[in-house]
Amino acid sequence: MRALTALAETRTATRPRAGALPVHLRIGLLGLGNVGSAVARVARAASDLLETRGFDLDPVAALVRTPSPARAAAASLACLTDDPEVLFAQPLDVIVEAIGGVEPAQALVRRALTSGIPVVTANKTLVAAHGEALTGIARANGVGFRYEAACIAGVPFLGTFARRPLAARARGLTAILNGTSNAILSDIAAGSSFPAALERAQRLGLAEPDPTMDISGRDAAEKLTLLARLFGSLCVRCDELHISGIADVDPIDLRAAQELGGVLKPIAHASWSGRLFDAFVAPAFLPQAHPLGSISGRTNGILIDSVGGRQLFAGPGAGPDVTAAAILDDVCETVGSPESSYAAEERLAAIPRLPDMSAWFIRITGDVPAAETCELFAAQGVWWNHSAELSGRLYVLTFPASPARVDAAIATVGGAARCTATAFHALPDEAFAC
Ligand SMILES: NC(=O)c1ccc[n+]([C@@H]2O[C@H](COP(=O)([O-])OP(=O)(O)OC[C@H]3O[C@@H](n4cnc5c(N)ncnc54)[C@H](OP(=O)(O)O)[C@@H]3O)[C@@H](O)[C@H]2O)c1
Repeated sequence: MRALTALAETRTATRPRAGALPVHLRIGLLGLGNVGSAVARVARAASDLLETRGFDLDPVAALVRTPSPARAAAASLACLTDDPEVLFAQPLDVIVEAIGGVEPAQALVRRALTSGIPVVTANKTLVAAHGEALTGIARANGVGFRYEAACIAGVPFLGTFARRPLAARARGLTAILNGTSNAILSDIAAGSSFPAALERAQRLGLAEPDPTMDISGRDAAEKLTLLARLFGSLCVRCDELHISGIADVDPIDLRAAQELGGVLKPIAHASWSGRLFDAFVAPAFLPQAHPLGSISGRTNGILIDSVGGRQLFAGPGAGPDVTAAAILDDVCETVGSPESSYAAEERLAAIPRLPDMSAWFIRITGDVPAAETCELFAAQGVWWNHSAELSGRLYVLTFPASPARVDAAIATVGGAARCTATAFHALPDEAFAC
């Protein structure tokens, strides 16, 4: 444990007034890794611009696991410590949480909010698990709790919609919420194997050394719970969502999708009515003409089915500097604005389930004539729309059918024809309610 120096005088942060001197905001960083370091760096690099807007953002202290004098990002800090007591003893105007995960982040954020210090976080795991409770604590203490950077960090839409409750009244959404998965599927579409595409994503710093959260779909599912809260006024338990990862997708699948006029994308999809929340997070077939069909590489996108029609937002989902910019904008918005947490209205506990009806993109492996397989599917009420044969596999796009009928059809061809079949959701390019 190490406190480098004591901090200078205490000043109270208030909303900047036109013509007033810049408001000096002392920022305490929880975590000084990729994001925390970028927050410190960008705050200093953008100081001139921020000053013209009335803000003097001053990262003064950081809490880390292992304090080390060798950290470049710590050079300008007055305090670097691994002891929360030392961190909270500093005079701080706002806290930025960039540790990640649930604990100790949750306990530290709770402590900050109950002490009357506003908090900005980029931690979707924390917000997915405890966002509702933390927002309540923030409101009870009259301070802000914001997390724009937790979902598509490079596209500032959460805060915008949170301030516009009528625009945010949505019926559903379809999104690419994980840039790592999107980059990997884009690479596979260009001919890479899954392991090679994953290795490339790790080399480019897009995927963590342990990429499980990204490729399992869990990261996107956590973001979907945030979005359900904002756009559906629903509390969704991430563990109750239907989640499939991208590890099972191979280059032949991507070529077949192309032959059938589409692409496979890592999709988070939800539509809701009352408490019913029809949703999945999984690789899904989109027609090439779908608005998300051309969003490739690390780019994220979200298509919101709101009162005025469909709205598309797309841009970078992560990256330290992009994330830091979203965090610092949140810091500026939080200051002096006790109501700057996301919406406070009553929320219903959602009942997540798979959509009743969906079209499907089905991969069938086995030595059985297409006509015979087609009949077996039809006997279960699953009707083929288009099909293609590729590298000894049969790929089928079906008309809408329930998950139960598709499961029954897959079981039938597995038993009667000794085929192996795997079904992916297929979304229409028009109105995305399945
Ligand atoms: N990276 C991105 O592009 C990105 C984008 C959007 C959102 N996010 C979110 O931002 C958060 C941080 O991500 P990151 O990439 O910056 O992570 P990171 O590089 O692993 O940094 C984590 C930081 O937290 C500190 N830490 C970890 N456990 C701690 C503990 N028990 N007590 C005190 N400090 C602890 C670490 O200390 P040491 O340095 O001593 O290990 C490190 O400084 C995550 O929630 C992530 O999902 C990241």
